[in-house]
Amino acid sequence: MERGQQAETQHYFDRFAEDWKRKGSGTMPARVNIIAQRNGIALDVLASLPAPKRVLDIGCGTGDLVLDIARRGIDAVGIDFAADMIRICETTRAAAGLERARFQHVSVFDFDPQGETYDLISAQGLIEYISFDQLVDLCRTVFRLLAPGGAFVVGSRNRLFNAFSLNAFTDMERKLGVLDDMMTEAEVIAMAADGAGALSAAEKIARAYPQPERHPETGVTVSVRYQYTPGELSQLLRSHGFTPAAVYGAHYHALPPAVAKDDPQLHAGFSEVVYRARRSDHRLLPQCTTFVLDVRKPA
Ligand SMILES: C[S@@+](CC[C@H](N)C(=O)[O-])C[C@H]1O[C@@H](n2cnc3c(N)ncnc32)[C@H](O)[C@@H]1O
Repeated sequence: MERGQQAETQHYFDRFAEDWKRKGSGTMPARVNIIAQRNGIALDVLASLPAPKRVLDIGCGTGDLVLDIARRGIDAVGIDFAADMIRICETTRAAAGLERARFQHVSVFDFDPQGETYDLISAQGLIEYISFDQLVDLCRTVFRLLAPGGAFVVGSRNRLFNAFSLNAFTDMERKLGVLDDMMTEAEVIAMAADGAGALSAAEKIARAYPQPERHPETGVTVSVRYQYTPGELSQLLRSHGFTPAAVYGAHYHALPPAVAKDDPQLHAGFSEVVYRARRSDHRLLPQCTTFVLDVRKPA
């Protein structure tokens, strides 16, 4: 099962690396650029660190985040297990002449940092594609590789959104018996005074929710793409020594997915405006398909 999910993931991202590059480039009309939104949040966190020297991006895809960080004069390493992704990274890096960017074709579970530590580690769009046991392994690896005081910026599909998407994902949660739990966590988050309060309140009620054997179709042909709630992920990271610092929302839905599909331009407009003005407003999290946690290793 585990090997199946990762093998499917590797196959998918190898075949769709060129499409992914187009997706992240912002040139696709009427599309929410979720890649740029998540990367923008990682850059916000980077800007909040006192003097970051080195960054690691796990599951770097086409390398946009790594290249943006290198442009800021900071050393950045991107790793990805899809060979075609790394080929694209190397081509873009060479064309831009960015010496501070490095890429490695390797699975995070085989990565040898050669004694390096990092001030920020990012993982966007990665944890969907690994099992729970591998996620635990990832938490331990990231904690070890972070410098004291360093930030882990981790993105996740937001399981709370399933309660508001009113589609096959909502039905999936009802069948798993957790729709009420999703509503309750959404409520607790929306009623908290700030982001930190939202996370601690959500952590108190969250648990490891049952996961389905397959997820409904979304166009990504990997049959299992795990989703977590902010409380659930924050709880897990805290249990591995991290201190949750902030939570951000990405890909806000003013329109339910079925309507957004009919009017992608309107949907993208709402989503981009909310991202620019309100990405750190915890009250909007339940309507975001994605959340990004900023958790810190104690100094
Ligand atoms: C959804 S893409 C996201 C890429 C990039 N972070 C972004 O936001 O555009 C997920 C990436 O994670 C990579 N990946 C999945 N499992 C991995 C693993 N075990 N080690 C390294 N990369 C992995 C995939 O090859 C893919 O490029």
